[in-house]
Amino acid sequence: MSCGQFFNTALSQDFSPDVRYMAYQSYLTAPHLLHQIDNLGYSFYGKTVADIGTGVGILPYLLKERNLSKIIGIDLDKDFLKAARYLNNNENTAYINADGRNIPVKDSVFDSIFVRYVFQHTGMSDIFLSEIKRTIKDGGLLIIADIEDDMNIFYPDLPESSKKLFRIYSEYQKLKGGDRLISKKLPAFLLSHGFKDIKIRPYTLVFFKGSEGSSSPEALKNAFLLVQNELELVKNDILSRKLIASIEFHKGLNDYFKFLNLKDDLLISKTEFLITCKK
Ligand SMILES: C[S@@+](CC[C@H](N)C(=O)[O-])C[C@H]1O[C@@H](n2cnc3c(N)ncnc32)[C@H](O)[C@@H]1O
Repeated sequence: MSCGQFFNTALSQDFSPDVRYMAYQSYLTAPHLLHQIDNLGYSFYGKTVADIGTGVGILPYLLKERNLSKIIGIDLDKDFLKAARYLNNNENTAYINADGRNIPVKDSVFDSIFVRYVFQHTGMSDIFLSEIKRTIKDGGLLIIADIEDDMNIFYPDLPESSKKLFRIYSEYQKLKGGDRLISKKLPAFLLSHGFKDIKIRPYTLVFFKGSEGSSSPEALKNAFLLVQNELELVKNDILSRKLIASIEFHKGLNDYFKFLNLKDDLLISKTEFLITCKK
């Protein structure tokens, strides 16, 4: 099944809207994830791998033909895992419904552990990182990918309504224990927990739209869809906490859509970090 089929299958089922948003996010970011995996130069052959905060299981899905011994997707959310099991029930794949801060496996079982877009939700949680360290083998590879909102560039400047919406989203994530400025803090955090051989590989996604046409219309469309899907996942919670009025939420999102579509000579640059280290 290609990534397109992965996504269409997710949509064709009677999954909740949250599962659909997550599946869409996974589908849109899958090419970057694949690129990062290939750039690692790491052989998964015969390895036992964990993917903590697997969501709907895009990583196990992408790795299913790499001859791993086993890949275990772990997530707090039962609905995401139900979809993950449906989308990829490969024999070398298993899923565990658990908190990454309390993983129900013995010590030193994983050759490598992936943690993509999860530290932005947990923040620098000592319990979480200690649990990762406990379950990874000596010399095992920890692979982290996460965001760094301080390295987002918009030219021209975003509309005020969208700026407000993104600021509220960041505050919301902080209220829930997360941090959208996490990547730059992770290397020192890993070092403080005794991880070694830390390698930091920032990677940048750039979208440009000039008056003579867009460098990639598809990429610009995806830039909007990614933000929209991410915000839809948390919209009800943000609104029920009265962090922003519903009308302002939708105006922020609509204005972002117009900003992407109407402006010429538009540039968006988003830098994320791929960080690897060893136990
Ligand atoms: C943004 S999604 C990332 C999904 C997937 N890793 C990817 O790269 O597409 C974050 C996921 O982490 C999960 N998560 C957040 N905190 C967690 C925790 N403490 N333990 C396990 N999973 C967690 C969420 O349920 C969600 O599925």
